[in-house]
Amino acid sequence: MEKIVIEGKNRLEGKVKVGGAKNAVLPLMAACILNSGINTFTNVPDLADVRTMIKLLNILGAEVSLENGNMYIDSSGVNNYEAPYDLVKTMRASVLVLGPLTARFGKSRVSLPGGCAIGERPIDQHIKGLEILGSEIRLEEGYVEAEVKKLHGGVIPFDVSTVTGTENIMLSAVLAEGETTLFNAACEPEVVELAGVLNKMGADISGAGTDIITIKGVSELKPVVDHEVMPDRIEAGTFMIAAALCEGDIEIQKCRFEHTGALIGKLLRSGVQIERLDEGIRVRGSERIESVDFTTLPYPGFPTDMQAQMMSLMCLSEGLSIITETIFPQRFIHSGELRRMGAEIKLVGNSAVVRGVKKINGAPIMASDLRASASLVLAGLAAIGRTEISRVYHLDRGYEKLDKKLESLGARIWREKD
Ligand code: EPU
Repeated sequence: MEKIVIEGKNRLEGKVKVGGAKNAVLPLMAACILNSGINTFTNVPDLADVRTMIKLLNILGAEVSLENGNMYIDSSGVNNYEAPYDLVKTMRASVLVLGPLTARFGKSRVSLPGGCAIGERPIDQHIKGLEILGSEIRLEEGYVEAEVKKLHGGVIPFDVSTVTGTENIMLSAVLAEGETTLFNAACEPEVVELAGVLNKMGADISGAGTDIITIKGVSELKPVVDHEVMPDRIEAGTFMIAAALCEGDIEIQKCRFEHTGALIGKLLRSGVQIERLDEGIRVRGSERIESVDFTTLPYPGFPTDMQAQMMSLMCLSEGLSIITETIFPQRFIHSGELRRMGAEIKLVGNSAVVRGVKKINGAPIMASDLRASASLVLAGLAAIGRTEISRVYHLDRGYEKLDKKLESLGARIWREKD
């Protein structure tokens, strides 16, 4: 295992390019199950989660290659409809194959994902949606088994706004007979990206990006060619906070201003300077960080995937910040590690009360999940002295070479054997 070592307190400066979005590419890969042929994508990030999805597609019978950001998926050999426990337990997003396998084969067997470090994470809405589309569902030996002769359209009111739930049902309804309407659909940019790619494949989806999505079923889909994966808004946000924490001046290239609005609004209020560029964002931190309160919400609200990183910033702010987590109420494991660095954080129910301190100190700390690892890296950059973060495999699930990119901006950060 590797650990990341950081000698903190270096100013960050320069340009950095954001990669393709993890949470966009995973459903796009699952979408290839719906056609038979060669699909190609560009700007694909080389992440542990993408590699897990490649393994899963391989097991299902697809041929996949990923090199220099170019991905090739030949789905013509897909002939297996079972996603085994070993893969699903390492990546919950594996459940995204449930919808497309059911749509293509009328059958699927997918290991039921359990809880994880950020909370319980049920998939009842995915299951309810498939049932409304006509599928029979059984839960047997830890697996969800779906079976149907032919999916038909339906009206699906989601009880909660769910990103992969919306995606899974879109991935089923595209090949159903008739029209499906999703109410209270997730509006995240990754859902819009998936709808766009499915439409390129020949689907008929409208309304993506709003909370009502209409899908007119078609009889078949064709492969997609050379689709460029959208930039990762969470990686972009992570660099913004790095600049804010290190009095930095960073030009974040190839990211979309409009995807990071809720975060930008809060950063502006905390005194960070932000400038919209043609294809990126310039972020300049200042010596004084004002505290702000924020609440995580579905898009376009403040993303839960930025909560941990923003908490690191608030640890060094002037004043008191109240952070409320409404998506994953338990997603605060990083607060304990930040406290070990000298931060003052109290948890009250699903809120964290952060009292800003003048300085935090480096310490040996442990990553518990993907975004928590990013928040600890950010804290390490701003801390006095040496921080050692173990279990960084969590970071590699969703950030491509974050340490190298930060090093290129002037951070003293490297990996060592743990
Ligand atoms: N929920 C249910 N029932 C369901 C589905 C969800 O009650 O059937 C609840 C969840 O427990 C949660 C809320 O609905 O309280 C929202 O969860 P959602 O389903 O939207 O989360 P997800 O689809 O499992 C995706 C991202 C997460 C991100 C969340 C929220 C992917 C592959 N994952 O997860 O990303 O935090 O949406 O935006 O898209 C990450 O990248 O670090 C990450 C965890």
